[in-house]
Amino acid sequence: MKKLESALIRLVLPLLGAFVAVQLLPRGIRLEHVENHTQPEHHHHHEEEIPVKSSSRYLAQQLKEAPYRYYMYDDPVMTQKKARDNARNEKWTWTRSWGQRYKDYVKWELAYLKALEEHPWRIFDSPETADFIVIPIPINAISVAGDPKEDTPRALEALYQHELFQKFPEKHVWMTFLEYAFAPRINLPSRVILEPGDLRGKRKRKRKQKGKKEKPDAAGLYMEDYARLENITTALPVDHHAWNHKVPYSIKEQQGWTCEEMQKFSWGEPFTKHSWSMSFMGAALDLKTSLEPLTVESFQNKTYHYLYHSRTTPSVCNSTPHRHALIISNQTREALHQPCSIGFDIDPAEWNRRFKDTKFCPCIRGDNPNTRCVFRSIRAGCIPIVVSDLLEDFAPVYKSLLRLKDYSIPIREQDFLQDPAKALNEATKTTDEELAILIDGVNLLKRMVVPSYPASLFVEAFAHETMASQQSDYYNYSLVGTVQYASIGS
Ligand SMILES: *[C@@H]1O[C@H](CO)[C@@H](O)[C@H](O)[C@H]1NC(C)=O
Ligand SMILES: *[C@@H]1O[C@H](CO)[C@@H](O)[C@H](O)[C@H]1NC(C)=O
Ligand SMILES: *[C@@H]1O[C@H](CO)[C@@H](O)[C@H](O)[C@H]1NC(C)=O
Ligand SMILES: *[C@@H]1O[C@H](CO)[C@@H](O)[C@H](O)[C@H]1NC(C)=O
Ligand SMILES: *[C@@H]1O[C@H](CO)[C@@H](O)[C@H](O)[C@H]1NC(C)=O
Repeated sequence: MKKLESALIRLVLPLLGAFVAVQLLPRGIRLEHVENHTQPEHHHHHEEEIPVKSSSRYLAQQLKEAPYRYYMYDDPVMTQKKARDNARNEKWTWTRSWGQRYKDYVKWELAYLKALEEHPWRIFDSPETADFIVIPIPINAISVAGDPKEDTPRALEALYQHELFQKFPEKHVWMTFLEYAFAPRINLPSRVILEPGDLRGKRKRKRKQKGKKEKPDAAGLYMEDYARLENITTALPVDHHAWNHKVPYSIKEQQGWTCEEMQKFSWGEPFTKHSWSMSFMGAALDLKTSLEPLTVESFQNKTYHYLYHSRTTPSVCNSTPHRHALIISNQTREALHQPCSIGFDIDPAEWNRRFKDTKFCPCIRGDNPNTRCVFRSIRAGCIPIVVSDLLEDFAPVYKSLLRLKDYSIPIREQDFLQDPAKALNEATKTTDEELAILIDGVNLLKRMVVPSYPASLFVEAFAHETMASQQSDYYNYSLVGTVQYASIGS
């Protein structure tokens, strides 16, 4: 397997280079350049129905042909059927007023676990030969539709007792969208802002002083569990490694992320050695948004140039100016490329109808750099315009395979706030070639995040990212093509 792995990495890395180089090249040369890296096209039955060309097609092929095999436990104590069933039937045990969104995330968790359970790369025999081992504990379902104080420790005990875990802890991967699970904030004394690096010392001291079994977090995990799980890989909504190691504190502060909401969130050392970010990819599963194919033809056929609706109430962490910039000034609204649908909230049915009938969807940061809008737009077939400078540092998606620019148009917050209409109008002046490449990127990402989509690549991308995140290069932020700083007025 090792040989095959490195073969895959050799195959995919040049392509990564292509994606990276593409960004550095002047506009217009992109497609040409990428075509030099493509292989002769094979006929892939499913793919013909889906417009994936050039670099995207090449990448999709490489992923499909990758030799990964994984094992996934089916021990009922770990799979927690009861919590899953409760969640499916919306029988909630979650009584807190905060965290209502976890009731959405549980659908994402169950859909992705199901995809992993059903994929042909899953093996049932000789688990010790697997490239990685999936922990099927549905921690989100347990948290909102089970009994985390009971179920989580029992499920974890079953894992700890298993000889596979004892022998190969580093092969294990655990996925969750719960922001507080595996988030370094857990032991933070509230209202204390720490410089990066402070936390590890504090956490260790605390662990030593108080010994084991303190209070568990809302998912039922104790600090002792995190210590025990330190060598597994986690797939989380946030890239704690990049955020904590790459983004200097001063930049976080400048961006307003020192406000209380973000203080609670992700400062300090990650709990696990290896981790990768899924961002909010599950938002692409939202059934309230119709799943629309995107082609050059369907794009040109769309009525609205932009669609953006936001609530009237202020958003935390200084994001209200961002959120309202397009809405509150008549002058701005009128200067936008028409027709567009811009304003405060509208009727959901009408919003959905317009969403799939829109070319470009601004996705503007809220109380943290992450946004579900990108994935909803990908689902609806609307090209995202991302206004969130630190998104790639905070919550990239499949960062070994894709850059934000491959499936969206990122614009700087500063440029946007200065003249929102001008920034959007200029960003959406694309050549036909650029547009075709973007549409390919949107479709590629859609295949990677929607398991029910024809020729889905969810499991393939999940496997690739898991393996990539177990390489030390993944955490070398000086490498070209890893997370890039947004340039924030210095
Ligand atoms: C692509 O390859 C051709 C022939 O190998 C070469 O002439 C051309 O310069 C290459 N284009 C780029 C953008 O590298
Ligand atoms: C994690 O791996 C390191 C290095 O191999 C090892 O020293 C440590 O004991 C491991 N931790 C656990 C909890 O297994
Ligand atoms: C374009 O829109 C028209 C009218 O809305 C529709 O009938 C037609 O099927 C659309 N064509 C494409 C390629 O989406
Ligand atoms: C802005 O537009 C709204 C509705 O289109 C209108 O009611 C309002 O008077 C306008 N405000 C200004 C200052 O022009
Ligand atoms: C990180 O990557 C750079 C550039 O390739 C390399 O020079 C450096 O040695 C790497 N650092 C580590 C710790 O691997």
